[in-house]
Amino acid sequence: MLSDTPAPASASAARPLTAPAARGASAVAHPNIALIKYWGKRDEQLMLPVTDSLSMTLDVFPTTTHVRLDQDAAEDRAALNGEEATGETLRRITAFLDLVRARAGSSVRAVVDTRNTVPTGAGLASSASGFAALATAAAAAYGLRLDAAGLSRLARRGSGSASRSVFSSFALWHAGTGTGEEGDTSSYAEPVPAADSLDAALVIAVVNAGEKAVSSRQAMRRTVETSPLYGPWAASSRDDLADMRSALVRGDLKAVGEIAERNALGMHATMLAARPAVRYLSPATVTVLDRVLKLRQDGVLAYATMDAGPNVKVLCRRADAADVADAVRDAAGTVVTARPGPGARLLDGGV
Ligand code: PMV
Repeated sequence: MLSDTPAPASASAARPLTAPAARGASAVAHPNIALIKYWGKRDEQLMLPVTDSLSMTLDVFPTTTHVRLDQDAAEDRAALNGEEATGETLRRITAFLDLVRARAGSSVRAVVDTRNTVPTGAGLASSASGFAALATAAAAAYGLRLDAAGLSRLARRGSGSASRSVFSSFALWHAGTGTGEEGDTSSYAEPVPAADSLDAALVIAVVNAGEKAVSSRQAMRRTVETSPLYGPWAASSRDDLADMRSALVRGDLKAVGEIAERNALGMHATMLAARPAVRYLSPATVTVLDRVLKLRQDGVLAYATMDAGPNVKVLCRRADAADVADAVRDAAGTVVTARPGPGARLLDGGV
């Protein structure tokens, strides 16, 4: 159990703020769900995507992360929901902290304590909230001064989709151009405008909260390398993005839903055509998709989107969310309704 509580205010006040041993910071971030998907990297090391993507940050399933610098430690340690992280999970966190340390000119190790309220690895964007919270807390703990775009670039290095969770409501992650430093600098997220009249909700049908068999990283790589549908989807996604931006500004929920649904189904088509195929969608997913079609036939604006997992997120008007939830409840284990939520932020003033 690695849970650490922040040093009491009096203890940290007694030490100069520049002393690394006294530094710690807590941050909270929420997941985001892409309406225009990120699927495929042009640079795996720098986490540079092939296409732009656009998402809605949620007001549910926050991740809270505390980072404390430990001058005496030889290794980083991390706990996820109170359980000590090992293996690949710890490796990813350490690699991320190495980036922060390199920028801060520090070699001090850290103790990370993170609390997730979203099932991990089930296509419910736990890595987005996780790395957005870690980036925010670690940047503060190591004394990095970053603007929002800089924080988004940093979060991107942990998990691409985390670049968008830095921002509230709707965010666009620019793929950027080029490779190396040019690619790194040009690839970050920023807020995009949406009309207040949009009044969107996302009804999340958790059909299976178990961890996925194929990671999104592996699945993306296989899709980009082997799927004959990848190029056409990436090209059509560029048009989808332009249409989506104007639908958001108009507050046209019908258009937002239609574009989001076609973009997500197209992304899954690219995976189904990969060799061998990657299939995240389960029979329960298809049942929920049928319910969404039926809702539309009954005159309710409801559109589905799915990520690297079997769970379905149904975009609808806030006023219809309870009816949509009722329509999918028997096909899903858990149903949670989300609204546009806040961006990542430091807690307790940060240090
Ligand atoms: O969680 P990541 O950063 O490995 O990417 C997952 C990508 C999708 O969730 C499937 C789509 C998206 O844009 O979030």
